[in-house]
Amino acid sequence: MKVLHTIQDLKAELKAYRNEGKSVGLVPTMGALHAGHASLVERSVRENDVTVVSVFVNPTQFNDKNDLAKYPRTLEKDCELLEEKGATIAFAPSVEEVYPEPDTRVFSYPPTDEVMEGGFRPGHFNGVCQVVSKLFMMVEPDRAYFGEKDFQQIAVIKRMAEDQKFKLEICPCPIVREESGLALSSRNTLLTAEEKDIAVNISKTLFASLDYAKSHSLEETKQWVIDTLNGIDGLEVQYYEIVDGTSLASLKEWEDSEDIVGCITVFCGQIPVRLIDNIRYK
Ligand code: PAF
Repeated sequence: MKVLHTIQDLKAELKAYRNEGKSVGLVPTMGALHAGHASLVERSVRENDVTVVSVFVNPTQFNDKNDLAKYPRTLEKDCELLEEKGATIAFAPSVEEVYPEPDTRVFSYPPTDEVMEGGFRPGHFNGVCQVVSKLFMMVEPDRAYFGEKDFQQIAVIKRMAEDQKFKLEICPCPIVREESGLALSSRNTLLTAEEKDIAVNISKTLFASLDYAKSHSLEETKQWVIDTLNGIDGLEVQYYEIVDGTSLASLKEWEDSEDIVGCITVFCGQIPVRLIDNIRYK
């Protein structure tokens, strides 16, 4: 596996593969890789001749400077995992390489980018669209892989790719969970062992809500999830929304859509750590 840091080197390397007619898969990441990322890389390696994994903590998608500073950075360890999983190229550019000048482009895809994360993290999805569109232009992949833990992110990226007429397939990949059910996240490394035990209640409650939903309305189910989690010491729900799986518009009744997903963000522990998860009802 090659570890490249400049766009020029990346393009030169990819040109050689393109000339041989090879297909290219892209796995965009911010590093601190875990088994969830590994599953994306494994899938890309299975489905493409060449797999590029970008490792870049993108400053434009952080609206909180503290959150950006706290974000774990573990490039050496990440490269070991990528090598083991069969990635062809790890692309780890500097901030100056990706943003030689400020990116002033504005991406707007209401309501998909305005609700939930969009409401609580203003500018977040604009930053995600900025960096992902840059990566798409640099790599020109045939396929790009994203984890469904960030369900809203995939919906926004799909709209951006369509809007910007990128010719590639966006491949959503299932959430990878610990045996306890906790959704894997780079942020889990910021939790103490005790906080991790508390965080397990997020997925437990979401799974339990599938049963609860069978005999309760959508609004009751939503409130039950919020109340259950807020009743646990060390957890505070920021939002729980039950939405249409494509537009992400909030729903009122189970009959309102055939594609229904519950999306949650919960603060956990002392620091606190912001954790997200989701569950499909239909
Ligand atoms: O999901 C992430 O890790 C990031 O939002 C992404 C897609 C790599 C863009 O920085």
